[in-house]
Amino acid sequence: MTNKKIWFVTGAGRGMGVDFVKAALAAGHAVVGTGRDTDAVAKAVGESDDLLVVKLDVTSRAEAEAAVRAAVDRFGRIDVLVNNAGNFFAGYFEELTPEQIERQLGTLLIGAMNVTRAVLPVMRRQRSGHIISISSTAGIVGFAFCSAYAASKFGLEGWMESLQQEVAPFGITTTIVNPGFFRTELLEPASVTYGEPSIEDYAASRADQLKWWKAQSGLQPGDPAKLAQALIRITSEQQPPRRFIAGADAIALAEQHVADLQAQIAAYRELSTSLALDDPALAGSTR
Ligand SMILES: NC(=O)c1ccc[n+]([C@@H]2O[C@H](COP(=O)([O-])OP(=O)(O)OC[C@H]3O[C@@H](n4cnc5c(N)ncnc54)[C@H](OP(=O)(O)O)[C@@H]3O)[C@@H](O)[C@H]2O)c1
Repeated sequence: MTNKKIWFVTGAGRGMGVDFVKAALAAGHAVVGTGRDTDAVAKAVGESDDLLVVKLDVTSRAEAEAAVRAAVDRFGRIDVLVNNAGNFFAGYFEELTPEQIERQLGTLLIGAMNVTRAVLPVMRRQRSGHIISISSTAGIVGFAFCSAYAASKFGLEGWMESLQQEVAPFGITTTIVNPGFFRTELLEPASVTYGEPSIEDYAASRADQLKWWKAQSGLQPGDPAKLAQALIRITSEQQPPRRFIAGADAIALAEQHVADLQAQIAAYRELSTSLALDDPALAGSTR
């Protein structure tokens, strides 16, 4: 182990966050393992002199700032931030309440922003750092019954891609991770909230969706311990990837999406390229 780094992981009490902490410790790094329930985090990841467990509900900006202060007090720096904490509000858009949609965005999008906002001054001071945000295949393509979740993950990706350009001058790199289905607790009752059945038009398809989603828990092909090893590898690279699509299922979806996008471009290329002002002198910004 030549290059010991300080990791900061959100949602480290259950699911893939536990694997991220364990893998980083096993690779010789120091880790700030955070979660809403610090006892659960400590129990899940075990003890180590290189581990600091800190309370952090990512929806709290104050807790994010306090957790970052605690991390810097203990280890002096933060090299790798993993925005991992998440949950899943599943249901048809019309059957998810506005409050449920706000809570979904609040955890997956605003939560990641809260933690990153607290960490960035540390990384800018260091002139180095690596921000990893766990997105999803639903950050690349939308799925029925996942509108709130996909909206959050698409938002996360737009934010991350923009942030990348803003912080690169300070030596900070970013990576979006798009996992396919991994065997965690995300589809268990503690993590998933289903919309309330309220619209008869959706009754039949809702029943199919519920049956499908409930059957997936425990069947996911991805091994979170292997995903954690993949993160160890990409964080050790000189130029980490801006995106890491994780899992054969995720690659298949992404490839289909690229093909669909190409077909959509091709179908209307002529119409699309005919939209410029006739007088080029009047043409301004292309944005
Ligand atoms: N598993 C998959 O197939 C899959 C696929 C694509 C993307 N992802 C993404 O992977 C990430 C991790 O999910 P997972 O699969 O490991 O799910 P999980 O097993 O349900 O674990 C979710 C973790 O997030 C924590 N969490 C939830 N809300 C939080 C909050 N407000 N503040 C802090 N921590 C919070 C949970 O802590 P509590 O114990 O306190 O609830 C738990 O530790 C999520 O961003 C998810 O969207 C997962």
